[in-house]
Amino acid sequence: MSLPPGARADWTIDQGWERYTQAEHDVWITLYERQRALLPGRAADPFLRGLDALDLHRAGIPDFRRINEELNRLTGWTVVAVPGLVPDEVFFEHLANRRFPAGQFIRRPEQLDYLQEPDIFHDVFGHVPMLTDPTFADYMQAYGQGGLRALGLGQLHNLARLYWYTVEFGLLQTPAGLRIYGAGIVSSHAESIFALDDPSPNRLGFDLARVMRTPYRIDDFQQVYFVIPSLQALLDATLSDFGALYAYLSDAKDIAIEAVLPEDKVFTRGTQAYANRA
Ligand code: PHE
Ligand code: FE
Repeated sequence: MSLPPGARADWTIDQGWERYTQAEHDVWITLYERQRALLPGRAADPFLRGLDALDLHRAGIPDFRRINEELNRLTGWTVVAVPGLVPDEVFFEHLANRRFPAGQFIRRPEQLDYLQEPDIFHDVFGHVPMLTDPTFADYMQAYGQGGLRALGLGQLHNLARLYWYTVEFGLLQTPAGLRIYGAGIVSSHAESIFALDDPSPNRLGFDLARVMRTPYRIDDFQQVYFVIPSLQALLDATLSDFGALYAYLSDAKDIAIEAVLPEDKVFTRGTQAYANRA
């Protein structure tokens, strides 16, 4: 990847909020209203609280200057605009400094349900509400620092799975039942339903080494979701030095994506019917 024309050395650009068209704002509004109606009783409380605190409202694509005032006050995080995917090192460097790089563009009306690259709806609606939670805010910064370190150690492959199964596709255990907090789920209408209600996927208790040995799919709904008991438990599990874990992982084999192991804490033993459909 090379620095896109017009981007700064850290790959950020101006959001250019004034330049969004009404049609682009309308895409945001459509997606926002659909998810806002679906998520109560499905999304974790910190997510729903964050959504309201930031007032990611119905009027259209949010102006980063506006959401940053509140976000910065709450947890010291800032959202910065980038043209699209950025190199790993740039991404981790931003996270380690409490800056979340968000895509500036929005999907086209004919791409409401699927797109390959994260856009502003996935990045801002999906990721930013959780950054208003102090514990999750610390976790994301620690992940950035850990990412820089893993990059130097050639261990990104395993660490990326931790991001995937928590930040993107994580489930949270609550007294009221399982809730979604992963950005890849909460920003997807269909997966917000599938992740909680479909009999197909496994839903297993989070275990750090186990997660880092489990591959994931980027092309379809997940075959396994991992459930954390609390955000604090997630942060605590990742505070230790990963050096020994990386050494162990370099000899350990991957675990098949659909496997349920004897030591797994099983919330749901999935049928895998969706993954195995003809
Ligand atoms: N403790 C991890 C390390 O030593 C860093 C980390 C924290 C990684 C949180 C991911 C999430 O590398
Ligand atoms: Fe994402």
